[in-house]
Amino acid sequence: TAVQKGGFAHFMLKEIHEQPQVAREVINLLNNSADVQSILDQLATARHIYFIGCGTSYHACLAGAVYFGQLAKKAVTPVLATQFIPQYLPAVNQEDVGIFVSQSGETKDVLTALQEAQNRGMTCFSLANVIGSTLTRGTSACLPLGCGYEISVPATKTFTNQVITFLYLATRLGGQDLRQLDRLPELMSQTITMTDPQVKALVPKINSWNDLYCLGYGATYSMALEGALKLKEITYAHCEGMLSTEFKHGPLSAVLKDFPILFVAGPEDVPLIVSGINEVTCRGGRAIAIGEADQRLNANATDVITIPSSNAAFASLLSVIPLQLLSYYMSVDRGYDPDFPRNLSKTLTVD
Ligand code: AGP
Repeated sequence: TAVQKGGFAHFMLKEIHEQPQVAREVINLLNNSADVQSILDQLATARHIYFIGCGTSYHACLAGAVYFGQLAKKAVTPVLATQFIPQYLPAVNQEDVGIFVSQSGETKDVLTALQEAQNRGMTCFSLANVIGSTLTRGTSACLPLGCGYEISVPATKTFTNQVITFLYLATRLGGQDLRQLDRLPELMSQTITMTDPQVKALVPKINSWNDLYCLGYGATYSMALEGALKLKEITYAHCEGMLSTEFKHGPLSAVLKDFPILFVAGPEDVPLIVSGINEVTCRGGRAIAIGEADQRLNANATDVITIPSSNAAFASLLSVIPLQLLSYYMSVDRGYDPDFPRNLSKTLTVD
């Protein structure tokens, strides 16, 4: 396995570092795909659109729904696969379109939702990494994620390629300039280089805590949930991902001296995030801001992790990279193996 890890200590770190390269690959695949246009045509005329997945793949659905609203002016309902059946299935018919998202294409909860949706006549597409999986064989068209093998149980590169695929579809459906996406791989690479030392310096300041929050807003909400899931999955600490504006509606009461709260700040939401930061710091909490270089974050947060400057859609995607690195380094610092967390398997083929 030493060779397969390509000189990295773990598969997870290797896969984090592969993200710029696989991002380039998926953008190429999408540019040359014979299926993209017909999928877009059906999305354009659909009565209702659902993005469906579990765990990390569901977080990509959440990010995708925000991009579709903002860039393509299309309302999308992101939904956890198991909730799809009780909440939406009774209302679904053949005028609706669902995109089922999965790394493995074998997650039982996703396959059950797919089966039920097809029984109701819904048009079903998939985004998957494992081509030839049950999911990709069961949908009318599949967009491959092009990540190669993802060995580590925590998903990293497959998540960013799911998000990029949704960003690509929303950009194209909204008639926006696709060429700007070509900048993403380089920005991802810069984000890894820039944030790795910042994240390492943060670990000793917060790693004794077994309770954390990770907050985001708009497109960064999904990244906050994803960061919190990664932290829970491989550090075994409890980390709650939330919409930043909800924090004052209850959880604020838990803030003690030095209590760590991560704020994922989109460049357009800095004033809103800063007011959330100030509610925490004035009670002695440690507010850690993740965002583009911004004097307002430096002046108000306890710690800042700076990502390269780009635009709001890219910034949300880039901000998940330091969260992946943070969970990785916290896990290793705790003496755990981030590739194979206890109690979990890579693919959940049971109910
Ligand atoms: C991600 O780090 C987790 N291992 C898990 O949430 C995973 O994303 C989920 O089980 C869905 O898997 P899939 O993408 O293969 O369907």
